[in-house]
Amino acid sequence: MEKALVVASLLLMAGGGVHLPHVADANKGKILFQRVDLGGGTTGKSCNACHLGGKGLRSDLFQRKKITIMGMDKHNLAEVVNVCVEKSLGGVALDPQGNEMADLLASMKTDLAALKELQ
Ligand code: HEC
Repeated sequence: MEKALVVASLLLMAGGGVHLPHVADANKGKILFQRVDLGGGTTGKSCNACHLGGKGLRSDLFQRKKITIMGMDKHNLAEVVNVCVEKSLGGVALDPQGNEMADLLASMKTDLAALKELQ
């Protein structure tokens, strides 16, 4: 009985049942921004092709409650990013709660902050 418990907890620890919180990483996000295969992209474009250094991202991006992108109303940034992943990269939507999404958002935040400093 006790042995079974030990085995079960070892399995839990090894099997990824325990998730450490992901710390969003702007530098990793920047690398994802350059990848044409993000989300399995098929158009040969990366986010950078259109948004290099925060281009085309409005300065209030992280404050807006509702964002309209390509005529569609979206309520959070992950949905907006996924419109671009699907329509611009020709890929499959990323997990809105996933690490890649968190890193992408962090890198956009950094770019926008840098743009603001230039003004
Ligand atoms: C082929 C060009 C193109 C590519 C590649 C592209 N986007 Fe976009 N993106 C756009 C256009 C055009 C808009 C504006 C659409 C509108 O205003 O309706 C936009 C809007 C956005 C917005 C909203 C900006 C705002 O302030 O409202 C975000 C965020 C965004 N894109 C993120 C991304 C991310 C992340 C990637 C990579 C996964 C990406 N985009 C790839 C063209 C592109």
